[in-house]
Amino acid sequence: MAEKADEIVSRMTLEEKAKIVVGIGVPPKIPGAAGETHSIERLGIPSVVLADGPAGLRINPVREGDNRTYHATAFPVEIMLASTWNKNILEAVGRAMGEEVREYGVDILLAPAMNIHRNPLCGRNFEYYSEDPFLSGEMAAAFVSGVQSQGVGACLKHFAANNQETNRVFIDTVVSERALREIYLKGFEIATKKSKPWAIMSAYNKLNGKYCSQNEWLLTKVLREDWGFQGFVMTDWGAGNNPVEQMRTGNDMIMPGGEDKVEKIINAVREGKLGEEVLNRNVRNILKVLINSPSFRRYSYSNAPDLNAHARIAYDAGAEGVILLKNNNALPISEDTKIALFGTGQIETIKGGTGSGDTHPRYVVSILDGMRERNLKVDEELVEIYAKYISEMRKKEEYKLEVPGLPRLPQDFLDEKQLERFAEKDDAAIIVISRISGEGYDRKPEKGDFYLSDDEHNLIRKVSQTFHKYGKEVVVVVNIGSPIEVASWRDLVDGILLVWQAGQEIGRIVADTIVGKINPSGKLPITFPKDYSDVPSWNFPGEPKEDPRKVVYDEGIYIGYRYYDTFGVEPAYEFGFGLSYTKFEYKNLKVTMHDNSVKVSFEISNTGNFPGKEVAQAYIRAPKGKLDKPLQELKGFYKTRLLNPGETEKVEIEIGLKSLASFDGEMWLVEKGEYEARVGSSSRDIRLVGKFTINEEIKFNP
Ligand code: BGC
Repeated sequence: MAEKADEIVSRMTLEEKAKIVVGIGVPPKIPGAAGETHSIERLGIPSVVLADGPAGLRINPVREGDNRTYHATAFPVEIMLASTWNKNILEAVGRAMGEEVREYGVDILLAPAMNIHRNPLCGRNFEYYSEDPFLSGEMAAAFVSGVQSQGVGACLKHFAANNQETNRVFIDTVVSERALREIYLKGFEIATKKSKPWAIMSAYNKLNGKYCSQNEWLLTKVLREDWGFQGFVMTDWGAGNNPVEQMRTGNDMIMPGGEDKVEKIINAVREGKLGEEVLNRNVRNILKVLINSPSFRRYSYSNAPDLNAHARIAYDAGAEGVILLKNNNALPISEDTKIALFGTGQIETIKGGTGSGDTHPRYVVSILDGMRERNLKVDEELVEIYAKYISEMRKKEEYKLEVPGLPRLPQDFLDEKQLERFAEKDDAAIIVISRISGEGYDRKPEKGDFYLSDDEHNLIRKVSQTFHKYGKEVVVVVNIGSPIEVASWRDLVDGILLVWQAGQEIGRIVADTIVGKINPSGKLPITFPKDYSDVPSWNFPGEPKEDPRKVVYDEGIYIGYRYYDTFGVEPAYEFGFGLSYTKFEYKNLKVTMHDNSVKVSFEISNTGNFPGKEVAQAYIRAPKGKLDKPLQELKGFYKTRLLNPGETEKVEIEIGLKSLASFDGEMWLVEKGEYEARVGSSSRDIRLVGKFTINEEIKFNP
């Protein structure tokens, strides 16, 4: 492909080259897509279409003067996909999305998004996988492989350290090279090397003083020289302020484009301010990739992807990403349990976040509809009260629906007599608590957002008191895209089920989990802190507070569990946590050294009464040496198959020795000494510990 690209470049005029590196900047041929490239008919170069995003292909579902529909599947949001810890599922979701991309005439999917969850309040955390770069990188690599197996491209975004929405288009993110290499870049490095994405999107923000899209160190030194990236780099939409600098530093394509930028690039070459060889390099990087695209191959797409098959994949992915946070024998309930369903989220269920990560599916099964469809015995009298309440409130000016679920409706509107009545006649209470967030703004450490509002608190307290009086159980279903505070109310209830924003199948997934057709096997990819004041990125979203220009990552590498574990701060629910309806036992740990890796093998048995899957996690604790190290770091994981009660699976996790390295400022360094391999069911539920020794320091270039 490189020769073919070279050959095309050799025949191009300066104007044509400038057009290839700048998008067309007008609505593209596929309505609702995010962008498109210029076509050059003389050379047989077609325009290529780019569309979002991480939870499913985002294109307009309807088109003017056309009675066909163009719906795409709404998959669970990325934080939930990561909660599966299942690479096969990520690959399957990638394949399904890739097919929709191809069959709807799109060439490149603007996903996965893989910024690190530095702070629970980042408005786009739902679009990102994890606080841990290894989990994030592994999930992304599997997803990209799936997408690209369909003959279309994936695009890792947003490169890099775009960990907040506040002032994202100009904030200067100041981070040490060690924290960058080990945390904020690591996931991108893993995914780039493992899955060879067609493209990478540079982020809006500045990184250590320079816009990411104009940052030679990031785009050329790290990405191409250190990691050997072979695809092309595109800007985020409207990022940066200098197209010529973008060209020079290695940002191959400017999106969404604009004639002014084409002109600037042409003039810069004519005036000798930009070498034509730089432009040639960027055009070559782009064409080398686009030559493989469906548009180039004149693929004739069907506009008829298999949405039914993909709905099943969306369901399977959600089924493995549900996390059981608390269970005092409250779940599962039997199918004939009479359920009193509380919370407006039962009807206004949130399938995903807003902004470019949104999707337009054929349907969204709400939690209520899921329960009805599965014939659960929902108290319809209470449902009617909720339906009426929602429709009346949404007519009021102050509660007119702006985005799904917002503005938030007061939840505490039932009187004591009503509660009494339902507690008496029903068998259990389920309360839905929902949140939505999205692109362009961060969440707030306030009531109604990170904290429950008073009315939500009251609802939980009153329902619990009343139902407990009758000896009946109360379960809270949490329908959110990033952590909320749970410590102040979790003791009031008997069970908590975290269903994230599970996409279009959410209601079915909730119903099936509640009755035990799905045994929860998801584990947290992010820590739930006890209180916002415990979060290590204390200066989020930067300074000055009123209108931040700069955000300094003072906490360095101590993000998420790396902080909580090392500094002895107890979280509400730790990284890697998630209960099951069954129990798993770990045994027979063996740790063996090989030339370049250490192998950790052990057995997992299902010792409970329910079939289930377990996510085993391997953390490594390094010896004290020259560099500060977190207490432990995730270096491997494995999700078992469905184990029946009494069944055992043998697990072997191989950890490359190089992956144990820390960055010393110039080089990667694995220090010698005695290491601990810690295998467990969560980062704080370590079941087996073994030791291994590295006799000689390993040092290597980035
Ligand atoms: C977002 C990207 C997205 C792009 C195109 C930007 O605002 O940050 O994630 O891919 O828009 O829609």
